[in-house]
Amino acid sequence: MGTQWDGLATDFNSGVWLVSYCQQPFWEGQYKKLAEERSGGPWTVLDVGCGTGSHTVRTLQAGASYVLAFDVSKDMVEKAKLEVDKFFQSQALPESKVDCVVASVTDCSSIPEAQEGTFDLAVCGYVLCNLGSKDEIRQALKEIYKLLKPGGKLMISETHVIQYTLEWDNESVVPLLYKWCTPKEDGTKWNYFEDEGKPRELRMRMNSGREIKVTNRLYTLSTWVSLIVEAGFQITQFLEPYVDSKAIPADAPDYMKYAAGKPTDMFWECTKPNL
Ligand SMILES: C[S@@+](CC[C@H](N)C(=O)[O-])C[C@H]1O[C@@H](n2cnc3c(N)ncnc32)[C@H](O)[C@@H]1O
Repeated sequence: MGTQWDGLATDFNSGVWLVSYCQQPFWEGQYKKLAEERSGGPWTVLDVGCGTGSHTVRTLQAGASYVLAFDVSKDMVEKAKLEVDKFFQSQALPESKVDCVVASVTDCSSIPEAQEGTFDLAVCGYVLCNLGSKDEIRQALKEIYKLLKPGGKLMISETHVIQYTLEWDNESVVPLLYKWCTPKEDGTKWNYFEDEGKPRELRMRMNSGREIKVTNRLYTLSTWVSLIVEAGFQITQFLEPYVDSKAIPADAPDYMKYAAGKPTDMFWECTKPNL
């Protein structure tokens, strides 16, 4: 069965400016820190909803010994495989191995390589907002929890709740970025709490100028924290990455300048307790 992400596999990685200027540098920092904690020892990664394989490649670059990357979109998995092949052609890493599989995070038992209690790190970048309900998120977190080693870490990123107060929708303030979400019937914007868990269409403008549409769901900060804690994780770090204005070229479009300095993501580092 096709998914809404299939058609986006070609340029998702390089096409979204926020990914290039904020998310990738931020995640690279997290992986570097984790590799230092492992002090050269092997570590294994579960790249949940791997998309085009950005986290897979970055964790390999940071020293991961094995990555199991999976996504519900067949096109995304195909693209991830290509990116991984390209990476291995450019780097000689005979000790590292990757498997790329089509599967849903709500049922990891269908993945033969997904052995319980074997992963040091699970990465879940902007995936949970794509699931159909809170119950599906609960199920996903349960699956991930099972697959991690005791003491293993889950890193999650989702849209920052401050986005409700920013003026992405006001084209005179922020031309050409994206529509925050489908407006209410009267044309006004949803407020925080009001549209929790409801499907919303997000329109994003890619670097190429192409506009893409995806439907996802937003949750309040308290819902995210509750879901993570209910699943049995301890939240060991909460960060709010933002675009560093110094990283943005002087001739960048106004919307990038508008975004600089404001948090874009919420990031949780969650630890499976060593019971
Ligand atoms: C915003 S993209 C993020 C991709 C990647 N994690 C990244 O940060 O570059 C969301 C991805 O989640 C995937 N996805 C959606 N529902 C999923 C599910 N139930 N199981 C696994 N992947 C899923 C989509 O196919 C898409 O590739």
